[in-house]
Amino acid sequence: WPHLHLPGPDGVTESAPVLLMLHGTGSDEREISRLAPLLSAESTVLAPRGRLSENGARRWFRRFAEGVFDVDSVVTEAAALASFLDAARSEYDLDGRTIVAVGLSNGANIALATAMLHPQSLDRVIAFSGMHPLAGLEATSSLSGSEFLLLNGSDDPMAPSDSVDALETALRSAGATVDRIVRPGGHGIAQSELEAAKGWLESMS
Ligand code: MLT
Repeated sequence: WPHLHLPGPDGVTESAPVLLMLHGTGSDEREISRLAPLLSAESTVLAPRGRLSENGARRWFRRFAEGVFDVDSVVTEAAALASFLDAARSEYDLDGRTIVAVGLSNGANIALATAMLHPQSLDRVIAFSGMHPLAGLEATSSLSGSEFLLLNGSDDPMAPSDSVDALETALRSAGATVDRIVRPGGHGIAQSELEAAKGWLESMS
């Protein structure tokens, strides 16, 4: 599976979380990795590439239309990402390190799905402009040890707030800790959200 592995600076990386950077539709692992040092300069970065293509744009799972996801594909790809993480943990000697997924848009959605279905592989997620990735399917296991930061624009047709509401409810009912920040504006990442994500990482248990 093509991916970037960028070890953090020597000597300071052990206590810093490992950042699993997940790109949005049509982007790639290099572009999303540029955000990592803005969030945590000392972190090791893992950045795989979405395995699917939609008219040449890389993605993490199939969709029937914008915001209408192929849930079977979401489930399959979430399992594949969980296996990638388990393999990367042993390949890069990351046992005992906290791994935090940082996803944008389609990358946020696969991060959320992976954490909902495979909390033993991934239990920390920062989701920029994400939404409920598994409409109609609830989290299958307890998420009592899991922590989520949901960052959304109030006016984002690609991640509508009713879907984010449903996501928040599903996560909380499964026992997860959820922080949710809504800012004015649409799809993407605002400077204020980068600051919020940085603070969340610093205060993470
Ligand atoms: C998705 O397909 O995951 C969302 O609609 C966001 C995107 O277009 O990537």
